[in-house]
Amino acid sequence: MPDSNTHHNVDPLDLNLLPHDADGIREYDNPMPFWWSAIFWASFGYALLYAMYFMMGVGPSVQADYQSDMGVFYEEQFAKLGDLQPTPETIRGLMVDPKMMQAATGLFASNCAVCHAKDGGGGTGPNLCDGSYINVKSIGDIYTVISGGVVPRGMPAWEKRFPVPQRVLLAAYVAHFRGTTPAVPKAPQGESIAPWNP
Ligand code: HEC
Repeated sequence: MPDSNTHHNVDPLDLNLLPHDADGIREYDNPMPFWWSAIFWASFGYALLYAMYFMMGVGPSVQADYQSDMGVFYEEQFAKLGDLQPTPETIRGLMVDPKMMQAATGLFASNCAVCHAKDGGGGTGPNLCDGSYINVKSIGDIYTVISGGVVPRGMPAWEKRFPVPQRVLLAAYVAHFRGTTPAVPKAPQGESIAPWNP
């Protein structure tokens, strides 16, 4: 459209017009504002250094960092356990304490889940959610089984591995599985026993 072009001849902004023309659409050469470019290049540089340090270099990976944070968290929770005694009352108390159960999750996941599944549904070892037990008649027995194991039948003894408070915590964690619904429940084994509460 030649008419409209002639009208623009006096516009000083036309000096910045780029030479190309796409169906009459012209483009100004407007550089990004300095502040915008500065943020862009700063982020770009930061990402590059970040990747070099954390992904290729000596920086801890996200996983390692998380593990170490969780380690500190568990330590703190375990420190709070103090010298807890393996009594049914203590186990019942821990079992309904969400923070303690959270603290026990990693301990169970890394030591027990291989045989009992993370959600207690069972595998090589029995289902811990269903209310039926082979070696447990009351809540206190859980601690005894964890400590001494049932070695000939494939359940390791943990008394040399973990101090008393951690075994108490594990017992509470096992007790808290009861009545939950695991993803892949193993068929009940042993006998159905009375509920935990006295
Ligand atoms: C190598 C496999 C294996 C690992 C690891 C394992 N268990 Fe077991 N667990 C078993 C088996 C097998 C049994 C069943 C023993 C039996 O038949 O008497 C069992 C039984 C139990 C029982 C008694 C259940 C019942 O029905 O009497 C409890 C409680 C238990 N385990 C807790 C734990 C805890 C807590 C851990 C982690 C600290 C753990 N187990 C780690 C294999 C394992």
